[in-house]
Amino acid sequence: MKVRQAIRVADSQPSRRDTRLDKYVEQYAARASGFQVSAVRALFAVANRPEVVSLAGGMPNIADLPQFEIGATISKLIAERGAQAMQYGSGQGEIFIREKIVEVMAAEAICANADDVVITCGSQQGLDLVSRIFCDPGDVVLAEAPSYVGALSIFGANQCEVVHVETDELGIVPDAVRQAVTTLRAAGRKVKFCYTIPTFQNPTGSCQSVQRRQELIAVAQEVDLLVLEDNPYGLLGFDREPLVALRAMDSERVIYLGSFSKTFAPGFRVGWVCAPHAVREKLVLLQEAATLCPPVFSQFAIAEYLENFDWRAQIRAFADMYRERRDAMLQALVEHMPPGTTWTHPSGGFYVWLTLPDGLDSQAMLPRAVSARVAYTPGTAFYADERGCENIRLSFCYPTPARIIEGVKRLGEAIRSEQETHAIFRTERTARPGRHGAVINPAPDIN
Ligand SMILES: Cc1ncc(COP(=O)(O)O)c(C=O)c1O
Repeated sequence: MKVRQAIRVADSQPSRRDTRLDKYVEQYAARASGFQVSAVRALFAVANRPEVVSLAGGMPNIADLPQFEIGATISKLIAERGAQAMQYGSGQGEIFIREKIVEVMAAEAICANADDVVITCGSQQGLDLVSRIFCDPGDVVLAEAPSYVGALSIFGANQCEVVHVETDELGIVPDAVRQAVTTLRAAGRKVKFCYTIPTFQNPTGSCQSVQRRQELIAVAQEVDLLVLEDNPYGLLGFDREPLVALRAMDSERVIYLGSFSKTFAPGFRVGWVCAPHAVREKLVLLQEAATLCPPVFSQFAIAEYLENFDWRAQIRAFADMYRERRDAMLQALVEHMPPGTTWTHPSGGFYVWLTLPDGLDSQAMLPRAVSARVAYTPGTAFYADERGCENIRLSFCYPTPARIIEGVKRLGEAIRSEQETHAIFRTERTARPGRHGAVINPAPDIN
């Protein structure tokens, strides 16, 4: 009886730990302490309402894919080879799709073998696998200033420190890479690799010239540094043939990440890593541990698409559609932005990087913009440190040209009224604490 009573008392009185918001807090690994929900995520929930024009998301516009025909091909695949396509597969990924990927990479002068390729669950998983292979807590990764929010999240989750390197309109500055490596090594830090998006960068839209690429590779060779080239947008240029990839310039020093997310469809979650032999071995072992094998059905489906459809023509059609949207955005910016606002002029990809007039803060302004029914991603998301307050990333990939024009018009109004408030109250930009290893998770709609 006494025992039963005692149990009842214990049941009704939660322990000290149970009264906390998160009762598992003492069990988490050290790396989990850095995970943070994005401060702007709640606003993005509002931004997804139909009346709001979202210039925030990095979602490709795949509505023009021949969906009916793709569906028929996939039905046939299930009918004829379903038992194989729906089975477990190889940890490295299926050979037939790796052979196709070699053809895709040839468009950027990469000369690879199917054996150099490891299939991943989107290039996002490639970023994670490479980071986990190379980075111990406290190691340094160099990245463009600013850089892709999803990569910053992964580097943070793997407890490495991101050091941003000076970046101009042609991308990362090779001399600044040399300088950063020299200074960090002199201070006893381990610099594991330089992460770069050379072609139509996320978030700035910048594109490294061939000369800039050669200089970057020369510096990497000089200081013995690995380069992690992330290239989801490389085939989405508006005015020219694809540029030569960094990987094509030094296959032993460059680890290359590719993806079908922007050139076909992100829902299949198929990307790849093309890596030097020794690294590839480690990637396969880690991929087996992480997933047993990357999604087999998606690999079959994409291989069927590449085999049976004119994927090169489809990519050209995508690029034409995105060019029209870029043009709509650039023209609307000229018409609606107040003096003192500047922006980049991308020649491919999805993004424009905007700098606000003096004194304005993009994160502080976001509620006003959402009230004006337009959403954007504040520049702070793209820095691991406290920078980015004066910047905004605008995406032209998803909304129609008419919606883009309307969104930019609303943004112009929001900026003007923020300027008026600023002129009256002289609000100062607040210094942000920065991430310092904390992770701001990229929701799919802000990646
Ligand atoms: C630069 C960059 N890298 C990687 C990714 C992840 O792409 P996915 O995992 O869909 O291949 C994205 C997505 O927006 C990106 O912009």
